[in-house]
Amino acid sequence: MQREIGIALMKRALDIMEAQRPEMAESHMEVPLDFYNDETVAEKERELFETSPLALVASSEIPEPHDYLVRSAVGRSVLLTRDADGEAHAFLNYCRHRGAEPVQGCGNARSFTCPYHAWSYDIRGRLVGMPHRDRFEGLDLSRLSLVELPSEERHGFLWVVVRPGAEIDVAAHLGELDAEIASLGCANMGYYSALSHEPLASNWKSVAEGLLEGLHVPYVHPGTFALNPQAAAVDIAFFDSFGPHIRWGMPMFGRDEVARIRATPEEEWDPAASIGCIWWIAPGLLIAQELYGLIYADLCPGDNVSEAFFRYGWLSPTAEAPEGFSSPAEMAARAAKAVRQDQPVWETCGRGLARGAHDATLIGRNEKGVQLMHESVAKQIGYTGLRYC
Ligand code: FES
Ligand SMILES: [Fe+2]
Repeated sequence: MQREIGIALMKRALDIMEAQRPEMAESHMEVPLDFYNDETVAEKERELFETSPLALVASSEIPEPHDYLVRSAVGRSVLLTRDADGEAHAFLNYCRHRGAEPVQGCGNARSFTCPYHAWSYDIRGRLVGMPHRDRFEGLDLSRLSLVELPSEERHGFLWVVVRPGAEIDVAAHLGELDAEIASLGCANMGYYSALSHEPLASNWKSVAEGLLEGLHVPYVHPGTFALNPQAAAVDIAFFDSFGPHIRWGMPMFGRDEVARIRATPEEEWDPAASIGCIWWIAPGLLIAQELYGLIYADLCPGDNVSEAFFRYGWLSPTAEAPEGFSSPAEMAARAAKAVRQDQPVWETCGRGLARGAHDATLIGRNEKGVQLMHESVAKQIGYTGLRYC
């Protein structure tokens, strides 16, 4: 993070730690249950995910020429590759013959052969061969490439718009946060998977809510996140929004350290060690500072209002743990355990929101990150039903 931003956030962190109160929203928020359950809302949200740049993989997941990886995104199977020149690509992973998925998993390959009738494609998605080629005499293979999706590699991620032919401009999408995300150095970090893109039986915004507050950490995450130093300050947080995106964070120091830090000249402050920040990049990307690395996760709606898909991993600037810390693989395993602790709670929320007879969820003034997330989604899809009390 740029130093002047870190210093400004540290001053806010000192204020809230001293006051023992988070930065609060002006009012409580009521979110009508139709915002979670209404199919028209869900349709607009799917449209939002289909037209936004999504950071589908870390660049380090396909670092070498001919590396590839398949994952699902917004209901599609997407093939991500790096060609012989080092350029990354994204394709819809559907065979141009009769639609099977030609590629599964990840690895390094010069070509891919569809399991159904063995049509084969190269790393740039071009159809390069088929059995019984003579039966297709006169056919122009060049119009039968895998459908390429708009993509852009930036700040250590491969961003993709899952709708063919759409515009992509990641810098414009990130707006004011572009330089801040660049400063995290994700391009030089290795990826450690905690959870592949799995379905959760919950509305996606219910899951997102849990990523924008730390209030549940002591209750849901004993033995995982609760061991982090910031867990002592789960309710002491600061929040900002940047267009549709949100940054929130918390002091990583205790109340007893406020006076000492204030007495230290600002030039000696170390924001990187003193605050922990979490970025929510609309519509569903989470990047969070955690000890010496970053949580990198993405969320999208499923096929119905009670389903979400979540992928979760850990980015590490080093293959070896710094002294006194767990290894990157252990950090990822811990993250996976934490998600498994969240999952049952999120799924009960999913049932409660789908079947509850109450009319709204209540988001408190101290859950400002959750309020900002709902306001961001509502604004992007033109929903006007959020209420304040
Ligand atoms: S569907 Fe792929 S080769 Fe037939
Ligand atoms: Fe959680």
